[in-house]
Formats: sequence, structure tokens, C-alpha cells
Amino acid sequence: MDPENLLKILPDPVRHRVEPYFDALEVMTSVKDPKVLASLGPASVRGLVFQRGKQGQPTLIPATHDAYFDWSYPSDQPEMLELYRRAKEGQWNGETYLPWATDVDPLDPEVPVIPEHFLNFDAFEEFGVKLDARERAQLRADMLAWQLSQFLHGEQGALLAAAQVTEAVQFFDGKLYGATQVVDEARHVEVFHRYLDTKLEKLYQINDNLFVIIDALMGDSRWDMKFLGMQIMVEGLALGAFGTLYKLTKEPLLKELLRNVIQDEARHVHYGVLALREHVNHHLGEGERREREDWAFEVAVLMRNRFRAYEVYEEWFEHKLTRKQWQHVVDTSPGMQEFRHVMFSRLVPNLREIGLLSDRIRPHYDRVGLLRYMEGKAAHEVTGDQMLAELDGRPQLSAA
Ligand SMILES: [Fe+2]
Ligand SMILES: [Fe+2]
Repeated sequence: MDPENLLKILPDPVRHRVEPYFDALEVMTSVKDPKVLASLGPASVRGLVFQRGKQGQPTLIPATHDAYFDWSYPSDQPEMLELYRRAKEGQWNGETYLPWATDVDPLDPEVPVIPEHFLNFDAFEEFGVKLDARERAQLRADMLAWQLSQFLHGEQGALLAAAQVTEAVQFFDGKLYGATQVVDEARHVEVFHRYLDTKLEKLYQINDNLFVIIDALMGDSRWDMKFLGMQIMVEGLALGAFGTLYKLTKEPLLKELLRNVIQDEARHVHYGVLALREHVNHHLGEGERREREDWAFEVAVLMRNRFRAYEVYEEWFEHKLTRKQWQHVVDTSPGMQEFRHVMFSRLVPNLREIGLLSDRIRPHYDRVGLLRYMEGKAAHEVTGDQMLAELDGRPQLSAA
């Protein structure tokens, strides 16, 4: 029997328990490269089946990387040194720099935190779910809280990964730069948490798919896999998501918060591209490069297909819609489509730039509809200011 049909005939409580297993199975059967499966498979079981990210405090992930010391203090990467200089000058205090006194009411239609058309409310009606104006506003506010909660959890991942990478990376200028990123990520954790805690008064648990990725790269002993996972995939996608939200929101405090975070994140992804471009092209064998290429593709698909706010579904619609129906609502929602579009238009050019989009893998990206982002600008070609100018619809001054 088709798994979808099997799911339909199960009683609700059993179906809700079984569905995550199908998700895990789908991840594992879709991965073709055995080395990639060895990396993502165990993390998928921990994340999707056992939901380790949701099992209370603390979550312990064993780490086994080498700390790389260099007592000769070489000046080895001038571009990273330049980023270090810019990062020192670009520091800001999350406590005093943002207008925290702003009164935020996520249900106020005059100052929408995200626009009315963000979700496809027609699809709810098609499935027989009616929501009045207040419920729609509340659902939108919850989707925002969910999105920001995932940003926050991703920022905690970035904080710990940046610390690991600073230890493990072999470029000395990269270590100096990396220390500034650790501070940046701490600040991001601080401001996203404060916004959720004091303005939206809501915090969602970590999404299982995001947990899988964080789990897989925190435990990987290879620094470049941590880099690829965190600096390029998670950070690259987050940067796109921050940009979309920055463009959509009319809430002034959130807009200002995102403006400042985007400036920092643009440096982080830039650093990821610099470090990996050098490493992939000059230090890896072809087999190792191919493994990273396959890994990046699987993670991209994991993020594209699966970032679907199931935590909101479970809270609102578990007994009214199937997961498949919820997926349809999310996939056809203009706001969520915009998120996906901007996220991948940022990510794909970076993968091209670091040498992980060879002719061998391109047909796979084409098959899942992501190759159209191929020609975009990579992180080292666009600064945070230019990114913001583009999002604001302002004319841009000059190339980076
Ligand atoms: Fe960050
Ligand atoms: Fe970051």
C-alpha cells in the first residue's frame, strides 16, 4: 500500500506519531552518496525520529575536532584580515543600539508585522477550515514567532559552530576574524531572544530538520564540513530569510534589528566563501570535493522541502488538517514562496563560487528547480549595504 494511503486510514493519534518516521525514511532513501548518508543518516534519526531537539534541557552533542594552533602567527589571508578589520569597526551593542522602547502589537492591522497575503488563506477554506479576521492575524503572528524562533535556534547553532571553527580552521587571519563572529552571533542570540521574549512573548521549539543539520555539522570532525554547513548553508539561507522579512515587515523595531543583523551576516557568509573557495580548490582531492558537493545538495533539498512550520501546524491544525494539506497551504503561500526564492538566490551562487556546483551536480539542482539561481552574485561580490539597498529598492552605488 502507498504510504500516503496507509497514513490516511490510521487514527489521528497514531498518524501523528508515525508521520515523522516517514519523514526520516524519505531523507534516508533520497540520499544516494553513502558517505553523505553516513553523515546525515544518524543525525536524521536523532532529529526526525527521536526529536532530540525537543526532549528538554540540555541537548548534548559530542564534538571531536582538532584545535589547530600556529605559534608563528602568519599573516596568511589578507581578505580575511580585511573582514576582521571591518568586523571590529562594525560592532554594535544590541542593548542600546535598537529602539527597544517601541510598542509592538503583532495583531495591530495598522502596523503589520507580516502582510495579510503572507499565508494562502484560500487553501484553508478549500480544506474546510474557516478563520475569522482575528484568528488570521493571530496565525500570522504565530508564523512570525515560529520563523524568528528558528532564526534564534539557528543563531545558537552559529554561535557554537563559530567557536568550533575558530579553533579548528588553519588560516591564522581566519581565527582572528572568527573571534568577531563569535561575538556577532552572541549578539544575534541576544536580540532575537529579547524580541521573542518581550515583544511577541512566544518561543517555538527547534524545527526537527534544522536540528538534523546542526547535529550533523557540530559532531563532524572536519572543519570544512562545519563551515559548509553553518557558514554557507544555514547562514546563507538565514541571510536570505532575514532579507525577505526585512522587506515584508512594517514593524519598525524588527526592521531595525534585521537591518543590523544583515550587515553582520553578510560578513559571515563572505568569510565562509573565502575560506572554502581556497580549501575546496587547493586542499581537497576530487573524491572529497564530490562528497561535499553531494552533502550540500542534500542539505539544500532538506531545507527547501522541509522548512514548513510543522510546530505551528501541531499547535493549530493537528486535528483539522493532515500534514500533507498543511504542506500544500505553506507551499502555496506567497510569503513562504518569497522566503524560498530569496533564500536560494543567495545560497546557490555561493556554492558555485566555492566550487561545489560542477557539471556533474547541476542536473540535480535543475531537477529540483534551483539551477535558475546559478548566475546570481556570490557573497564576496555584494556587501551588506548593497544587499539592504536592493531590499529597500534604492539605487546601488558601486560593486564590492
Ligand atoms: Fe548570526
Ligand atoms: Fe552568522
